[in-house]
Amino acid sequence: MFWQNIASMYRFIKSSWRRRGFQYTINIAIKELWFEWRYGVETIELVALDDMLDIDSELKAMATKYQATYVHTFQGFLDELNDVDYENGFLDLGCGKGRALMLAVLAGFKWVAGVEFSEQLVEICEQNISTFSEKTDKFEYDITLGDAGIYHIPDNVCFIYMANPFSEDIIKSVLKNIDETLARKPRPITIGYTTPIFAPLIAKYGYKRILEQKDPQGIVTAVAYRKN
Ligand SMILES: C[S@@+](CC[C@H](N)C(=O)[O-])C[C@H]1O[C@@H](n2cnc3c(N)ncnc32)[C@H](O)[C@@H]1O
Repeated sequence: MFWQNIASMYRFIKSSWRRRGFQYTINIAIKELWFEWRYGVETIELVALDDMLDIDSELKAMATKYQATYVHTFQGFLDELNDVDYENGFLDLGCGKGRALMLAVLAGFKWVAGVEFSEQLVEICEQNISTFSEKTDKFEYDITLGDAGIYHIPDNVCFIYMANPFSEDIIKSVLKNIDETLARKPRPITIGYTTPIFAPLIAKYGYKRILEQKDPQGIVTAVAYRKN
């Protein structure tokens, strides 16, 4: 695993440094390797949709491959959002191998949930979280195998995270599901969205943009929306 991660980071540095600049690229790579080593987990390796043999093709057509959120991006993003309510739940839609869930725990959330449609990734996620939990403070978690578009959003969740997991149609279903939980239990809700391709859609559902994060090229890497 160690050499596999080094090889992945070598490929990443080669493809990223001209675009993002050397310093920024190295910062990302170091944090990636440190996270995997420190917590004994495996989240770096990409998984192509073609290798997710257990998923029906209609859902696959609306999905993106597995790629972990960079530690650098996630931590920078939460740091800038200085009013996050860590007492309530964190939900990652399309949680993959669990990287964002573990980073949410490190940030201070005590209850995290993830939904992921690939059984193979759910198994890796469970394994990662179990290893990670031996090295961190106590927290609770819930991983669900299934389609995020029909996932019933728990009423204790106040932060919903999406790392560009799927297309517009599924995001619309998610936004309706959020409205349902808010109707049951009114509360402020924050959506964090990295590689935010369909961000304008969120604004149409009555959310206010509260944060925008850019890389050195000026490309928007993450946004946050809030509905009160
Ligand atoms: C870009 S990865 C993000 C992984 C993780 N959230 C992270 O930040 O490290 C997107 C993930 O969404 C999952 N996914 C895509 N469509 C989905 C759907 N409809 N329901 C559940 N998971 C989905 C993919 O299998 C993949 O693991």
